[in-house]
Amino acid sequence: MICLENVVKKYRTRRGDVKALNDINLRIEKGEFIVICGPSGCGKTTLLMTIAAMLRPTSGIVAVEHNNLYAMSVQARAKFRAENIGFVFQMFHLVPYLNVVDNVLLASGTVANKGEKAKALELIERFGLAGRDYHKPAELSAGEKQRTATARALFNNPKIILADEPTGNLDDDNTTSVLGYLSEFHKGGGTIILATHGVQAQQYADRVIHLRGGSIANKIAKEP
Ligand SMILES: Nc1ncnc2c1ncn2[C@@H]1O[C@H](COP(=O)(O)OP(=O)(O)O)[C@@H](O)[C@H]1O
Ligand SMILES: [Mg+2]
Repeated sequence: MICLENVVKKYRTRRGDVKALNDINLRIEKGEFIVICGPSGCGKTTLLMTIAAMLRPTSGIVAVEHNNLYAMSVQARAKFRAENIGFVFQMFHLVPYLNVVDNVLLASGTVANKGEKAKALELIERFGLAGRDYHKPAELSAGEKQRTATARALFNNPKIILADEPTGNLDDDNTTSVLGYLSEFHKGGGTIILATHGVQAQQYADRVIHLRGGSIANKIAKEP
């Protein structure tokens, strides 16, 4: 479903090129829960963003469901991203001026109709945020913010969730809760790629990919 061939990403800087991804070859099947694990700076965010249709690699091919992402027009790529991919970030990236409902509805991309609002409210309730619907992010705990962000990521029924250190700012209870929601999405057939330098998420993974210095170090199948 997701296929990377010889993907290289170099960042140009005034001090010369920084090679963030070094010839990545990777196939991810529909419905897999992949954890990408490695220390800070190993290329996790760069790898996720190339798969996210947000960051063009310097060379190589990224294909999602047979769509060669960086051969598409900018508009087609944006449409593909909006229709297929949901995101969860370490820093939540909620809009501070919007309440929980409106942050979730941001994913709809237009002025939400009644049906969409009802769907947002239902998701919010399912994520244990009932009663918080009209609170702004500053009035929420870190766990509540991340549950809001996860609800937003799921709003469009994406096929793929990309999560970049989604539990990096959460305590153990909220980590378990957010990983539980992601795991439910996976059990419903969704594909997840989650980047982390921690270990908690690994127990949910079908496959753990270890990234070191921009290269895949090894792939370890989960013990039965
Ligand atoms: N915009 C950028 N410009 C220059 N170097 C960058 C940029 N973004 C990331 N890097 C470098 O690329 C490497 C990989 O970064 P990143 O993908 O953010 O790793 P991780 O998410 O695993 O911490 C690091 O050496 C980082 O310093
Ligand atoms: Mg990162």
